[in-house]
Amino acid sequence: MKVIIVKDNAQGGKEGYQLFADAKKNGAKTFGLATGSTPITTYQEIIKSDLDFTDSISINLDEYVGLPEGSDQSYNYFMHKNLFDAKPFKHSYLPNGRAEDIEAEAKHYDQIIDDNPIDLQILGIGRNGHIGFNEPGTPADSKTHKVTLTQSTIDANARFFEHEEDVPRFAISMGLASIMKSKHILIEAFGEDKADAIKGMIEGPVTTDLPASVLQNHDNVTVIIDEAAASKLE
Ligand code: F6R
Repeated sequence: MKVIIVKDNAQGGKEGYQLFADAKKNGAKTFGLATGSTPITTYQEIIKSDLDFTDSISINLDEYVGLPEGSDQSYNYFMHKNLFDAKPFKHSYLPNGRAEDIEAEAKHYDQIIDDNPIDLQILGIGRNGHIGFNEPGTPADSKTHKVTLTQSTIDANARFFEHEEDVPRFAISMGLASIMKSKHILIEAFGEDKADAIKGMIEGPVTTDLPASVLQNHDNVTVIIDEAAASKLE
């Protein structure tokens, strides 16, 4: 893993943007995208730039299951607000969390990933080491699947909802194997509450207890972290 330590998430966003710009310059066609607070500064730098994605495909990691149609808590809404409205892609895929048959939707999503191999995948990391919504215990060979969110993730995401009870209990997420197929993976983390997960991901054993540790088995991972997230590294 190539580790870049930055001062704060603003500088992290500039570094993250640079990876997108380099990937585009080198002919990348398909970008794997994440939601959450972490990638926002990278998306802001992309929006400020003259990068053009109208010839590119985007594939998002995950989506909640069971939100009402048009919900402004959906990841679809998040992506439009934080990136797509300003930087449209030729086509943007997100899992359909309102599909009647989530198993069929998961299979369909894996087909989309197979048909559009991801050149650069951006990831955040959960405090429990999840990537996408792959919670501890998720097998390394998992493909897109329905997920039951852990209490730790529900608590972390409650800040975006009026009441904790409003946080969905299920999601649909790319699996670890789906993520590992990406040619280049960029994982970002900012803040002290990510320090344990980052230490485990980089220095710990590869274990399903900390899903992000599987990235040690990928040969092209760039880690962009601020000093707080890096504070527990040896
Ligand atoms: C989001 C996602 C999650 C987040 C993670 C960190 O699409 O897949 O794995 O990246 O929960 O969230 P933030 O960035 O809000 O701390």
